[in-house]
Amino acid sequence: MTASKIALIGAGQIGGSLALLSALRGLGNPVLVDLQGGVAAGKALDLAQAGNILGYDTPLAGGGLTPPESEGEVREGNIEGAAVAIVTAGVPRRPGMSRDDLLETNFRVMQSVGKLLRTQAPDAFVICVTNPLDAMVWALQQASGLPPQKVVGMAGVLDTARLKLFLGQALGVSPQDVSAQLLGGHGDAMVPLLRYTSVGGIPLEEFVATGKISQEQVEAIFQRTRDGGAEIVKLLQSGSAFYAPAAAAATMARSYLLDEKRLLPAAAHLAGAYGYQDLYAGVPVVIGAGGVERVIELQLNEAEQAEFAASVAGVEKLIETCKQWL
Ligand code: APR
Repeated sequence: MTASKIALIGAGQIGGSLALLSALRGLGNPVLVDLQGGVAAGKALDLAQAGNILGYDTPLAGGGLTPPESEGEVREGNIEGAAVAIVTAGVPRRPGMSRDDLLETNFRVMQSVGKLLRTQAPDAFVICVTNPLDAMVWALQQASGLPPQKVVGMAGVLDTARLKLFLGQALGVSPQDVSAQLLGGHGDAMVPLLRYTSVGGIPLEEFVATGKISQEQVEAIFQRTRDGGAEIVKLLQSGSAFYAPAAAAATMARSYLLDEKRLLPAAAHLAGAYGYQDLYAGVPVVIGAGGVERVIELQLNEAEQAEFAASVAGVEKLIETCKQWL
């Protein structure tokens, strides 16, 4: 079986971490591409050399964005025929910036990346990581013209990983045993679902009812999760989180490549689910060989519905702003 090509569009902090994870986990052959072709080529070479030490012999390529001159030509940075494309191209946040502050710059990047995908990797499963996530994944799908079920945004896997870590630490149990779902946008607009959070199969509400953790502590953890990205931006002072975002995107790619049918929260295209049409929002989905094979509709209570609606309204506003630049 030939290994799948994994196009990593954007060879910055997340792109580089993704190349390492892809090689270490045998996900496929990474091809790093970036406006800064030298950065992509340099990381590919560095990672190929690391393979000799770490025990992988995955071919790694990297380069600029120039499309191949003739059909079939193999050159560095060539994403043609990629099975998966993970898009991190764009600018990350600086301290004090919100994800929405990146809107116009990264929207224009999605326009050019979308064109690249349409012409060179139209069969790829595309995972968008660039922020502001929910609007950027919409822009990427529009610009690429790829089927909406093949274009998805990575936010929920990262947000739940943060939530599970903080809850596990507070309860003194392994975060591996915490299971959580959430809805809505990335960060501030995230809608955590207490009713769908459990620890070792025991509803979190039970831990609250028996005083193992207070409602206030749970709320503080939800808030820390919402601010999870900003907390890291502030500490790093330059750039934003990259190890956990890369791990989250790699998990989604693997579910597609191996048809694992993982049930994961992701920014997915809604065509009627939850009463919404033609936009992207964070919902639980099943990812398999067909891409986003299903959107799971949860029965929401009134408060959850209201929070989700407010979150989606925020995304709609960003999308409307983007439309003026089309
Ligand atoms: N085409 C290709 N690459 C581009 C383009 C473009 N039009 N514009 C920028 N890039 C490249 C940059 O050259 C840089 O190498 O995208 C890369 C982004 O890498 P980093 O700045 O290191 O950012 P990273 O931490 O990887 O995050 C990328 O993910 O989490 C989000 O908010 C974050 O939007 C940001 C994205």
